[in-house]
Amino acid sequence: MRALIVDDSVSMLSHMKSLVESTGDLSCFAYTDPVRALDAARTTTFDIALIDYNMPVMDGIELIRCLRDMPDYAQVPIVMITTSIDEDVRIRALEAGATDFLPKSPLAAELKVRVRNLIKMSSAVRKLNDQAASLAQDVEAATRALLVREEEMIFRLSLALEYRDNDTGGHTLRVAAYSQVIAQRLGLRPATCRAIFLASPLHDVGKVAIPDAILLKPGRLDTEEFEIIKGHATIGERILGGSSSDLIQLAAEIAGGHHERWDGSGYPLGLAGHMIPLAARIVAIADVFDALTTDRPYKTTMSIEDALAYIENERARHFDPTCVDAFLAGRDDILIIKLGTRPDAMAA
Ligand SMILES: [Fe+2]
Repeated sequence: MRALIVDDSVSMLSHMKSLVESTGDLSCFAYTDPVRALDAARTTTFDIALIDYNMPVMDGIELIRCLRDMPDYAQVPIVMITTSIDEDVRIRALEAGATDFLPKSPLAAELKVRVRNLIKMSSAVRKLNDQAASLAQDVEAATRALLVREEEMIFRLSLALEYRDNDTGGHTLRVAAYSQVIAQRLGLRPATCRAIFLASPLHDVGKVAIPDAILLKPGRLDTEEFEIIKGHATIGERILGGSSSDLIQLAAEIAGGHHERWDGSGYPLGLAGHMIPLAARIVAIADVFDALTTDRPYKTTMSIEDALAYIENERARHFDPTCVDAFLAGRDDILIIKLGTRPDAMAA
């Protein structure tokens, strides 16, 4: 271990050096010039510093202040050597960052014990700080891993839903990609856009509770069947709701609100305007656009141009006008997704 000793008196410096070296644990770097001592401290980290108070050019308090301004010296014990019993000097030294005081001619035994204790204390503090930093890193890595797992579970669950719905054509992933484009064009924060991308594939999760005879019926649904299928929004919100995960909670809002309409004529609650959660208003457009432009056994596909015109026509009726504007502004990206680019590539 290394000790820095600074005293403008050569004889005093030599005396202190021999005393400190007699502890047996420390190699001493002694300076009469505080400026040179500071230069040395910039290239070598000392384990303890013993600094005289009365020095020309820069006194001990100023030197302590300069050392404390250096990141490596935040925890290093700094002892002021002084004959002064002036309380003002002591307080100023403590305020500058002095750890302890020693008289000009300390007893060898006292100096040995004090120096050892101070070094022990500072290395314990350093060890604690290192452990805290390492723990913080572990927590961050674990949190990241949890988020990745959460995203993977959502992705796999949405795949399961596609199989249940006999839809292996990638509807849920396209809806996710369209929704992300709208969110981006709305100027939402990147983290929010990403969350909407991840949560939107679960918009139809409530369909797991709809009987096959209705869910997979090839023809048009009658009124009673349609009422049953409408229940998927409420069921989906119930399945996902109450989660402590922000992402699952967002998915619950989307599941419950993606069939609401801006003018209040939607279901299940007939919410209107901003009463409908924003993410659900976004997914509503993505869901309808994809349904219109995707082959289904019971309906013919609408052309992309006609589907875009339909969305525009439903501005401020079915859909949030601002979200429609964002959707149309992102038209090029929408077409790239529609015409075959992998939707998940849009998440990068
Ligand atoms: Fe739905």
